[in-house]
Amino acid sequence: MSVVAMIGAQWGDEGKGKVADVLSREVGAMARFNGGNNAGHTVVVGSDKIVLRLVPVGILRPDVRCYVGRGCVVNPAYLLEELERLASLGVAAENLTVDWNCHLILPYHVKLDQAGDEALGRRRLGTTGRGIGPCYADKASRLGLRVADLFDDGRLAERLGALADRHAPTLEALGVAVDEVEVLAGLREGAPKLEPYAGDVAAAMRQEVASGAKVLLEGAHGLLLDVDYGTYPFVTSSTVHPGGAAAGLGLRPGFVDAVLGVVKAYQTRVGEGPFPTELSGELGERLRRRGNEYGSTTGRPRRCGWLDLVLLKYSVNTAGVDLIALNKLDVLDGLEPVKVCVAYELDGERLEGAPASLDHLGSVEPIYEELSGWADGASGATSYDALPKAAKDYIKFIEDYAGAEVAFVSTGPSRDDGFMRRQVFE
Ligand code: GDP
Ligand code: IMO
Ligand code: MG
Repeated sequence: MSVVAMIGAQWGDEGKGKVADVLSREVGAMARFNGGNNAGHTVVVGSDKIVLRLVPVGILRPDVRCYVGRGCVVNPAYLLEELERLASLGVAAENLTVDWNCHLILPYHVKLDQAGDEALGRRRLGTTGRGIGPCYADKASRLGLRVADLFDDGRLAERLGALADRHAPTLEALGVAVDEVEVLAGLREGAPKLEPYAGDVAAAMRQEVASGAKVLLEGAHGLLLDVDYGTYPFVTSSTVHPGGAAAGLGLRPGFVDAVLGVVKAYQTRVGEGPFPTELSGELGERLRRRGNEYGSTTGRPRRCGWLDLVLLKYSVNTAGVDLIALNKLDVLDGLEPVKVCVAYELDGERLEGAPASLDHLGSVEPIYEELSGWADGASGATSYDALPKAAKDYIKFIEDYAGAEVAFVSTGPSRDDGFMRRQVFE
């Protein structure tokens, strides 16, 4: 297996940054194919905690070639900020290529996202406020600006003018303003700094695959946030499904050898939307505290609950997950019992699988299986044998229910906490 697509199998923040970092030791290239700086992928190296939002995690290793494909949206000002932050950590980012065709997130999109979500009142989504939805909307409306436009000054000014005109009435209605002259000046200033990173990612990726390099595709968000397969409308605006990786990077369908689903040992969600196994009260608070469940992008407290195996199976089947990376098993240390949701009840009837329309998720009641907990011992474990028996049983229960093998177990935030049970790249 040389090309592995890693995706989040829940509502994001499963620990994809950690898993990508562990796997980056083995790969020649790493690529993002969806989303933008609404993602927040955390890597802990020694006492440093590094959060990457747009650049693939592999950038921390100088020998890994990193790509941002055209399925992603790029805020140029933010990208410069991320590159500066990396430089201050001694990371040169010389191996980064951002596709010419990535759409640009501009201040218009950020304002429309923030003020627009706010204006929805109790129907708001709780977006990250990074301008993601409005940017993808402009892409689909054929109004957007792309990375290449930054290097063609006449075109840049013309397209920006058209975009500004189109959004002026909406911005006015929302009571917010964007200064077009200032935006243009900012883009002109940033362009020469970004030019060295712009390139043809599709061609480069074809080359990577043809040469047999090991490539990790670093999916952002989680399948339950996918614009088509998630809990719509409480979703993000990009394709999280690994099928989107072909289009998002410019490769032929079928190039992915394996799909690795990253799964948190319990369930979390940031923002609004249905969450059948959500725990309010002391238990939810305990998971939040032990798991440090605060958004790495926005700092918002994450909603916490028991692992929802019904939704995990939905993700495994929908996205074709072959292998699982199970994260944050250590957070369950000391809980007795540990519960997992194995079915739902809807209108007095037992549902064995996810409802055909995820719209119904707001009305289902979880049916739990109680499993034995373990006092301690998962935290920091570096081998399967070192795990307490009940933790091993927990892993087995997940594998049997979801129908996918757990290849990697993470037992703490740091690079060294955890172990592989089988190779992901062969
Ligand atoms: P991502 O978006 O999927 O990359 O996940 P985030 O980085 O947003 O959130 C995961 C959080 O959990 C980060 O703070 C990680 O440092 C941390 N983390 C990752 N794996 C583990 C683990 O196995 N145990 C614990 N306790 N923390 C972990
Ligand atoms: P990573 O890659 C968790 C959620 C937001 C909101 C919804 C829409 O770190 O796992 P958006 O700004 O995308 O329009 O917000 O999607 N969301 C995430 N939640 N992790 C993420 O990414 C997320 N990306 C988007 O909280 O509910
Ligand atoms: Mg995150």
